[in-house]
Amino acid sequence: MKIISHRGASGYAPENTISAFELALKMGSKAFEFDVHMTKDKKLVVHHDYDLALTAGNHAKIADLDYAALKKINVGNKFGFPVERVPLLEEVVNLISPKAEWINFELKNDLNVYPGLEEAVISFVRQRPGLSEKALFSSFDYGTLKRLRALDKLIKLGYLGHRLATLLLLPAIVRAKAVGAVNFHISLRIAVALNVSLLRKAGFSVCVYTVNKKTDALRMQKIGVDGIFSNYPDILQK
Ligand code: G3P
Ligand code: MG
Repeated sequence: MKIISHRGASGYAPENTISAFELALKMGSKAFEFDVHMTKDKKLVVHHDYDLALTAGNHAKIADLDYAALKKINVGNKFGFPVERVPLLEEVVNLISPKAEWINFELKNDLNVYPGLEEAVISFVRQRPGLSEKALFSSFDYGTLKRLRALDKLIKLGYLGHRLATLLLLPAIVRAKAVGAVNFHISLRIAVALNVSLLRKAGFSVCVYTVNKKTDALRMQKIGVDGIFSNYPDILQK
């Protein structure tokens, strides 16, 4: 079972920051997940939310800031880390890609708030030799997945189940197949043996978010999930 550093080692360092990715690497991570946004001046950056309220106590939206302004905001005052900046996608990928075997680019683009995000991310990956093979693109937003697929027939896509229940799994499988997803990501809440085996029988690799307790990680391993997203890359060693 793949242990995927979720927003870096975000249980120990401010999420989605260079420190979080450095720490994940130090812990031996080979699989990574992070969230991608775009600034007003079209720079690709890594951050979870569309605004900076939770990481910086600042309600500014990434879409409204040029990168130069975004860079001035401290998003890392946590776990004793005094200062962290929202990193460029490029900085994160340059750091992790020598060691990474699997990289999940989660695109946050609800309502197409960042027009052109999908093109920009695909072109970013294409420009870096060897990166496409390691890359999986996922999104909660079906329009984003459709735009990604329209741009490239070959990229690997992950369908991210949002507020799914067992009953809603079948229609979601149909949607995931329609867009050519190879991965299906579900929340821990519905990660039970029945659902996981249904998804695996449908041909998907199944990854579960967010698994932060060792007992849950061991249960996921037992029911045959392919990967877990965890804020603690050392979860099985704890
Ligand atoms: O990609 C898995 C997981 O990160 C999805 O949820 O909200 O943590 O981005 P979220
Ligand atoms: Mg995410």
